[in-house]
Amino acid sequence: MQILVTGGTGYIGSHTVVELQQEGFEVVIVDNLSNSSGDVPYNIEQITGTLPVLEVFDLCDLGKTEALFSNYPDIEAVIHFAAFKSVGESVNEPLKYYHNNILSSVNLLKCMKDKEVNKMVFSSSCTVYGQPEQLPVTEQAPLRKAESPYGNTKKIMEDVIFDTTRASAIQAILLRYFNPIGAHESALIGESPTGIPDNLVPYITQTATGKREFLRVFGNDYNTPDGTPVRDYIHVVDLAKAHVVALKRLLESKTLSKCEVFNLGTGTGYSVLDVIHSFEKVSGVKLNYRIVDRRSGDIEKVWADTSYANRELGWKAEKGLDEMMLSAWEWEKKLKN
Ligand code: NAD
Ligand code: WQD
Repeated sequence: MQILVTGGTGYIGSHTVVELQQEGFEVVIVDNLSNSSGDVPYNIEQITGTLPVLEVFDLCDLGKTEALFSNYPDIEAVIHFAAFKSVGESVNEPLKYYHNNILSSVNLLKCMKDKEVNKMVFSSSCTVYGQPEQLPVTEQAPLRKAESPYGNTKKIMEDVIFDTTRASAIQAILLRYFNPIGAHESALIGESPTGIPDNLVPYITQTATGKREFLRVFGNDYNTPDGTPVRDYIHVVDLAKAHVVALKRLLESKTLSKCEVFNLGTGTGYSVLDVIHSFEKVSGVKLNYRIVDRRSGDIEKVWADTSYANRELGWKAEKGLDEMMLSAWEWEKKLKN
């Protein structure tokens, strides 16, 4: 049995390929390498002893996507990570995001339907909740108008997948990630942002190596314990393991409906200053940071109610903030050398 992992050389995808292989699944990756490196499969091989197959092409190309399914008739299920993910870039280039994130996914669903590959795990995001009225946020919370075209592609794709599952034999699990951070303990795979990072943790680790002069902390006047925004940071390996659980749930026909939704977080919120202090503690490096104005579009606080995922999936995030920050730091140091 083969599992197709789109975006499998990317940050979350590569960690998931490792967990899949370690659970005995054979993996076929499709990635156009627009935000990742063709070396990643070899690093995965160093961890697991197995080189995953990598097919390099763009899922927006329907012909190539159809050919993939014809060439790999043993594909039983798809884990769909491939997408562009920069919030800021999506505001400036909305069509690039709508084109890539929607068209690639629609092509994939079309091919799955035609070839009767009926199981999909999809990467959604807590961004669909915006600023929730109640915390922790449950899967039943109302979805808000997206703050960015990127966020909107996640909302749209949730609807597209839901509608497709109603009208076909396809079953799906939508996983709403909170804030994935950290890297594999081997420091062989991790997050490699191109250019200046948008996200907090790569910015912290790059500041610590001297690649960035200082970290800007975007506002300390929020209604939170220390005034900085609160998020639910989750170790990428915990997140990757949840994909294997979701995949098995689909393969073993244990789902309760055609399209299920789960929050993937730890259930604990940490502020920006908590993250900085954890980093300083585990690395022994004093971080150069300055409080600056709020970043537009940022929400104040969000963390997950994970009880449904814990109960139904039998999965729970295990790694704490210090472990997340230490692994991010080990990875950054490896990248620098
Ligand atoms: P990533 O950029 O590291 O990985 C995505 C991969 O998809 C990249 O390797 C890229 O080259 C590939 N790709 C993009 N468009 C493609 C296309 N048209 N055809 C083939 N390959 C394509 O991102 P990530 O952080 O690993 O995120 C994975 C998924 O999780 C994305 O869908 C993202 O939106 C979602 N997500 C990420 C976060 C986060 O904070 N990292 C949070 C919530 C949801
Ligand atoms: C975290 C906190 C910033 C950088 C984004 C997307 C979301 C999801 C995850 C995909 C915030 C603060 C950050 C910096 C800072 N991705 N910060 N200085 O904004 O929660 O979510 O990534 O779906 O859709 O919007 O993550 O890492 O950018 O920020 O002070 O240089 O760190 O203000 O409070 P965010 P982030």
